[in-house]
Amino acid sequence: MRARYGVPLGITAVGAAGLVYAAGIEPRSFRLRRVTVPALPPGMRPLRVLQVSDIHMVRGQRKKQRWLRSLAGLRPDFVINTGDNLSDPEGVPEVLDALGPLMEFPGAYVFGSNDYYGPKLRNPGRYLTERLQGRHGLNGNPPAVGVVHNPWEDLRDGFDAAGWQNLTNTRGTLKVEGVSVELTGLDDPHIKRDRYAEVAGGPSGTADFSMGVVHAPYLRVLDAYAADGYPLILAGHTHGGQLCIPFYGALVTNCDLDTDRVKGLSTHTAEGRTSHLHVSAGCGASRYTPVRFFCPPEATLLTLVGRARG
Ligand SMILES: [Fe+2]
Repeated sequence: MRARYGVPLGITAVGAAGLVYAAGIEPRSFRLRRVTVPALPPGMRPLRVLQVSDIHMVRGQRKKQRWLRSLAGLRPDFVINTGDNLSDPEGVPEVLDALGPLMEFPGAYVFGSNDYYGPKLRNPGRYLTERLQGRHGLNGNPPAVGVVHNPWEDLRDGFDAAGWQNLTNTRGTLKVEGVSVELTGLDDPHIKRDRYAEVAGGPSGTADFSMGVVHAPYLRVLDAYAADGYPLILAGHTHGGQLCIPFYGALVTNCDLDTDRVKGLSTHTAEGRTSHLHVSAGCGASRYTPVRFFCPPEATLLTLVGRARG
């Protein structure tokens, strides 16, 4: 009897343990990832950039809020928020409270689809199969958002009041101890709100450093930023694949980016020009799919250093 049922019971127990871990432990295992990016002009002093992304705040997520507040201890030169702050239409005050200490530093932001719209209750299996089939909102019907309209204006007003720059289809400039950083941003390509024509033309050449910012790293945006000559592009949205296979990696990116670049530092080349690309795995998930596996929630401290002379 033991031999007959032992293996199925063992598999069931491992599966149950995996579910408990993916739903209850890993989504709360916040961590900081550090990367060094040789993107600055040779000889320029390093810049420390904290990227936060995909917070997907739901009221009452106290551990996430405490962790976000603690990131101010890193004392970055500036902060970039790559969107999807909300997964609860009443979460704006808690986002602003959690990011309050970080808003003491210079910063800028773009929004993602989940800042505008509330998440829909979905079958997680269907969510995964749609993405494996490549159905990720390219046909004008973004599948992951519903008709609940979030108070994104309140979020915008809070960020703006703190002095963070709104990069929604526009440009901005940050001054960091005498260094000027030019930022070009787009609204979310996942719901076709990106308007590259309004920001096209590449770095102005008047700043010490320039970078492109967007929520979802769709190839059309990466192509445009790289071809225009931005040395660095920051994005979020992918959640790093969210449910990853040990020793294999992500199955989906939730956009047309390949899974090899689902998170972390890589490069993107278009028209013979290459940009560094950093995709944050983010620190949250939709309130209806609050699971992560082998893809812990994160923020990233990017230390930008000078390129080698050559
Ligand atoms: Fe997200």
